Amino acid sequence: MTTAIIGTGGIGSVIARQLASGGENLRLSSADTESARRLAAQIGRAAVAAAGNRSALQGASAVILALRFTVLKVVIDEISGSLSGNVVIVPSNPLSADAQGDLSRVLPEGQSSGKVVAGWLPAGARLAMAFGTLQARLLESAGNRSAEPAVLFYVTDDDRAGEEVERLIRTAGFEPVKAGGLEQSGRLEVGGDLHDLVVGPAQGRSLAGGA
Ligand SMILES: NC(=O)c1ccc[n+]([C@@H]2O[C@H](COP(=O)([O-])OP(=O)(O)OC[C@H]3O[C@@H](n4cnc5c(N)ncnc54)[C@H](OP(=O)(O)O)[C@@H]3O)[C@@H](O)[C@H]2O)c1
Repeated sequence: MTTAIIGTGGIGSVIARQLASGGENLRLSSADTESARRLAAQIGRAAVAAAGNRSALQGASAVILALRFTVLKVVIDEISGSLSGNVVIVPSNPLSADAQGDLSRVLPEGQSSGKVVAGWLPAGARLAMAFGTLQARLLESAGNRSAEPAVLFYVTDDDRAGEEVERLIRTAGFEPVKAGGLEQSGRLEVGGDLHDLVVGPAQGRSLAGGA
């Protein structure tokens, strides 16, 4: 199957490598086409660099928006004509960095980033927040563990998005665990109780509260 990944930076490049290793075909795009092209060349036959963000969606059953939270809306507006009925997966943390690199939340405390992103999507798009729970280096090292798979938590309000994100999480070499609906997205973010946890399935389900 084919997944589009828009954003091939720190987290998008790791997700792309892991999905390609699991047999997924990828269509990649980035702000500067050259960085998507470089990543596609590194990955090989499973990945192609698309001509742009809209073109990345052609033939894809899901799109992963591996973008900083502050550019998400602009890109969603750009591709919204192709999103109805599509599964949209967002790993973004609602953070911005100042000149010193200090991070601050761009949404009011307690406001769900998942609900905010859902409000930016066109009717019919199916959203899951996932693949942003681990720092890129942890995500890279925790995939395809030999003993038991590490968990990747996700949240969604949509059953079909849930099925697709579970398929992609398994393809990437992890065990999916649902941590609730979109209103629970704060649990996955930097500062949330499920962020940066590398745990097995039993512990993951227990921590998620059997959601
Ligand atoms: N890095 C991590 O460890 C990590 C872990 C968990 C979650 N996250 C979350 O994931 C999100 C992305 O983080 P990151 O570290 O991957 O950021 P990043 O390294 O800055 O990568 C952002 C990517 O977005 C692309 N981009 C920017 N504007 C675009 C546009 N208009 N159209 C298409 N692509 C565009 C950039 O393209 P160019 O390459 O051409 O500049 C780049 O590939 C953030 O919200 C972060 O909170 C990151």
